Amino acid sequence: MRVVIAGGHGKIALRLERRLADRGDQAVGLVRNPDHRADVEAAGGQAVVCDLESAGVDEVVKVLEGADAVVFAAGAGPGSGAARKDTVDRAASALMAEAAERAGVRGFVQISSMGAGAPPGEDADEVWAAYIAAKTAAEVDLRGRDLDWTILRPGGLTDEPGTGRVLLGPPPLPRGSVSRDDVAAVVVALLDEPRTAGRTLELVRGDVPIDTAVRAL
Ligand SMILES: NC(=O)c1ccc[n+]([C@@H]2O[C@H](COP(=O)([O-])OP(=O)(O)OC[C@H]3O[C@@H](n4cnc5c(N)ncnc54)[C@H](OP(=O)(O)O)[C@@H]3O)[C@@H](O)[C@H]2O)c1
Repeated sequence: MRVVIAGGHGKIALRLERRLADRGDQAVGLVRNPDHRADVEAAGGQAVVCDLESAGVDEVVKVLEGADAVVFAAGAGPGSGAARKDTVDRAASALMAEAAERAGVRGFVQISSMGAGAPPGEDADEVWAAYIAAKTAAEVDLRGRDLDWTILRPGGLTDEPGTGRVLLGPPPLPRGSVSRDDVAAVVVALLDEPRTAGRTLELVRGDVPIDTAVRAL
């Protein structure tokens, strides 16, 4: 399987690249900073420099040709303002999805966030409100595409070692956290299970082995 990962130097993305490479799949990580190539390659992936806030759709289509799936793992990140929530968390996802349609790449796993799909609380600050609005709009965009999409909404992300056990299911799940290791492992399992297409799923830490949780969906 050849999987193109938007936000290829992200913390989930690097873990995902390592997992895919370890089992013989090809991971292609899109990075905007050329200095990040070495880390993607060290994780076993192939790095392609592509800034998703300035790239045109034709450029992305070229990168996607011959791929089996896209994983959207980019994000403007903590410390970024409301404007970049829109240009990355919404618009870059829509760009990847449009390019996937044009390139004929059917599989698309979008890493969204718990909290998406509903208005932010009344006490939400401007940046959190922009983040939730961007993630929600990216989900709406993806659901309208002719793709085998799966939307994954993790809870709060941690850098703890993965446990291989999760709570995964349609919203709403109780709020909670989940390790990036386990998110990456769930993404691999979703890529392997075509019947998860068309599903919106939430993810927090739990007791169910990941393969069992995905099979049970
Ligand atoms: N933090 C949480 O608790 C939480 C909870 C639920 C969901 N999420 C979502 O989970 C996803 C991944 O999380 P993570 O912790 O792995 O994120 P991360 O480490 O911040 O990685 C995001 C990546 O996106 C890249 N990126 C930003 N702008 C880009 C652009 N214009 N073109 C190409 N790449 C760009 C960043 O590259 P640079 O290094 O160059 O900036 C970074 O490598 C994000 O979508 C996030 O919103 C987070």
